[in-house]
Amino acid sequence: MPFDHLRELRKRFRRESVTLQLDDIQSLILRSRPEPYVGIHAGLRVDTPEGGRALLGRLVEYVPSAQDWTADMHAWTGVAISHAGLKAMGLPEESLASFPLPFRQGMAARAGQLMDTGENAPETWEEFYKDDSLHVAVTIYADSEESRADAVEKALGYLEEIDGVTLLGTHAFGAPDAANPFGYHDSLSQPLVAGAGVDALPGQERAIAAGEFILGEDSETGSPVAMPSPDVLGRNGSFVVLRKYDSRVGAWNDFLREHAEEDTQESRDALGAKLVGRWRSGAPLVLSPEKDDVDLGMDQSRNDDFDYSDDRRGLMCPHSAHVRRMNPRGSELTILTDENIHRIIRRSSTFGPEWDPDLTAADDKDDERGLFFIFISARAYDTVEFLQQEWINRGNFVDLGTERDPVVGLHEEPGRFTIPDRPVRKRVDGVTTFNRLRGGEYMFMPSLTALRWIADAGWES
Ligand code: HEM
Repeated sequence: MPFDHLRELRKRFRRESVTLQLDDIQSLILRSRPEPYVGIHAGLRVDTPEGGRALLGRLVEYVPSAQDWTADMHAWTGVAISHAGLKAMGLPEESLASFPLPFRQGMAARAGQLMDTGENAPETWEEFYKDDSLHVAVTIYADSEESRADAVEKALGYLEEIDGVTLLGTHAFGAPDAANPFGYHDSLSQPLVAGAGVDALPGQERAIAAGEFILGEDSETGSPVAMPSPDVLGRNGSFVVLRKYDSRVGAWNDFLREHAEEDTQESRDALGAKLVGRWRSGAPLVLSPEKDDVDLGMDQSRNDDFDYSDDRRGLMCPHSAHVRRMNPRGSELTILTDENIHRIIRRSSTFGPEWDPDLTAADDKDDERGLFFIFISARAYDTVEFLQQEWINRGNFVDLGTERDPVVGLHEEPGRFTIPDRPVRKRVDGVTTFNRLRGGEYMFMPSLTALRWIADAGWES
């Protein structure tokens, strides 16, 4: 039974407490996916500066601002541009040089920092992620096929009239039950952005400083993070990490079949929940340690209201579970870090058939099911490199040596998963790369003012 992410927010939205310039920020930054959702990603290459700017000039008409971000909407479009794309549109050298180094280099060139090696290495990626030709990414989220078709027609229907732009490809996505390829309800835990007009629920985490997500605003450190120049280009924009994964659902199912304590779906689900940190409905292990609780999973006012302070030993949720690694929520960490500067707004999109518990690795086809992992943050490039290096592909921050994230870790050799238990912990071997990287890019998501500024070559005036 899907639910509306905005419903709870709407009850707590107070326009008088808004401090952000909502009418200049792309709606997609603050607005969660609808549930259920469909959508499309389109990738474009800019062949001439005029063509690229003409594209932005048309597109910006269909990109809603966040002004009414908690209101009903059937579809919305977001636009992001890579560094190569900004260059291809003719931005002046000093603006191009004002972007942070990882963004300037692009994701493929950062493979070392991202630990994208072996089967995740850029050489294995889909063609247009490899050669810097993904210049503009257009994402449309919609609540029905009809709304999507209508939004696609508006946002992209005029492409043939524009010279100097090539459509590299489109990829439709959607999940009727808002579940990812492994059948887990996802995109549940999202940070509250200070100044967006929504207060935290009692007991919920406090709002995170707006500058962690919106350029030009104060961040958790008390001042804004570095912003590209001129001001009109950077302010109210953000950065996006885009990573396309092939989900090896058959291998995941086989692993659960092989290692579950009993030969029942219930027992396999219990092991899967330990790996993820939540049950398939979304119910967190620390609130429901023994079995799934669909009502809890579906209740947005409860399903994210927890931390790990009563589970220091990991007896309910293992330290190595995906969600505990990705947001330790007060866990004792061996390597200290400020959790609040690693919070991210996730906008992932699942494609391919719904999860099938009987699928095996032998009948799973490559690239048929997967997800576009997308997140937004003012320091997205730093955060993803930190997460990939420290919290995903290492385990020493939770005293687990070389143990990697069981969901998104790269396992060049079969890895291990540790489940704290009494009297002794259990260790499960044979974790493989359940999500293989097929490509990705660092993108910049400009404000509406900046999109128009680029479209009009504002630097020339
Ligand atoms: C590629 C396949 C991936 C799958 C199947 C997956 C699955 C999930 C699931 C089921 C959840 C729990 C529900 C929710 O809060 O949305 C989750 C949470 C999360 N994931 Fe992933 N994820 C994937 C990739 C990633 C990557 C690559 C990152 C980071 C670089 C990441 C970061 C997070 C974060 C930050 C959370 C929220 C944790 C929290 O606040 O408690 N995920 N993921």
